Amino acid sequence: YALKQLNTFGVDVNAKLYVEIFSEADLLEVFSNQAVKENKLLVLGGGSNMLFTKDYDGLVVKISIKGIDVKEDGNDILVTAGAGEVWDSLVKYCVANKYAGIENLTLIPGTVGASPIQNIGAYGVEIKDVFESCTAFEIATGQIKTFSKADCGFAYRESVFKGKLKGQFIVTAVTYRLSRTAKLQTHYGAINAELERRGITTPTIADVSEVVAAIRVSKLPDPSTIGNAGSFFKNPIISRQVFDDLLAQFPDIPHYPAPDGRVKLAAGWLIEACGFKGVVEGNTGTWKNQALVLVNHGGATGQEVYRFSEKIINTVQQKFGVLLEREVNIF
Ligand code: EPU
Repeated sequence: YALKQLNTFGVDVNAKLYVEIFSEADLLEVFSNQAVKENKLLVLGGGSNMLFTKDYDGLVVKISIKGIDVKEDGNDILVTAGAGEVWDSLVKYCVANKYAGIENLTLIPGTVGASPIQNIGAYGVEIKDVFESCTAFEIATGQIKTFSKADCGFAYRESVFKGKLKGQFIVTAVTYRLSRTAKLQTHYGAINAELERRGITTPTIADVSEVVAAIRVSKLPDPSTIGNAGSFFKNPIISRQVFDDLLAQFPDIPHYPAPDGRVKLAAGWLIEACGFKGVVEGNTGTWKNQALVLVNHGGATGQEVYRFSEKIINTVQQKFGVLLEREVNIF
């Protein structure tokens, strides 16, 4: 089964087996088949955070469970969406209805089901800030289980679904706790600057959403024309001590506070400082406006992109002594 249209990197690979899921009942039916269970399994939402380096010798399960349901809870709005809903469509729906909380997450590619897996985040907001609960299908038992926020163990681009429960559950729906009262997060420098530039002093949810969209479009390549999977690496989190040494050598190194007194660095800056911004290497390269994004200029193989990412990791390691970790899942 051809996966080229199903991964935003646009890598041309095939899966041995493929099934599209429209309901929890579909999941139960597929996974009650013993022969199916014996295969390696890959759950696919929007395919926006993965790089295939070869054909997939197993079962690809594409989640297309749809539906949006809204419940009022005082001033809060509980929005439940099927895992297969397109994330940005949900954002647009919420912005149009003035449900506040996810406007900063405008234009993030992918699906609702993927949102808790890596705790998607941008412009000062992470999904954990609005996450209420999710339901997930347990592959081993065929049961649907509910996960609270605490159950999910969210951290920067992390959750229990990437950690100790990896490969055991398939998210079927997510509930977000949004609000009728906007608590706008505009402290992220680029948002404030763009609001100011537009002369907006009392922004609405829609203003913030529009500004975020404009910033993203100016920095990130559109996967429908240039294959990519957003940030290829995570922003590295290092100890205060290691950071102090780096700061002495590189006084203008961008840095942000991280949990437990640690320090988060900007991988894009490190990569650019190694001379990699807008570099073209064969069919791959880094994006001209954001060095953290690796792109497919057309016809790139996953191997080619992977090798290029290794070169970046090695160069950054040599210059800064910092080990970059891939954010994108490699298959
Ligand atoms: N920078 C450079 N050169 C570059 C890229 C960035 O010097 O080529 C510097 C910027 O000037 C800035 C700092 O690095 O000082 C941070 O850059 P930016 O605000 O663009 O954000 P980021 O840290 O590179 C993260 C997320 C993005 C998210 C943005 C905005 C990660 C791995 N990435 O990028 O998420 O959109 O913040 O909040 O945390 C994604 O995960 O796929 C993604 C796009």
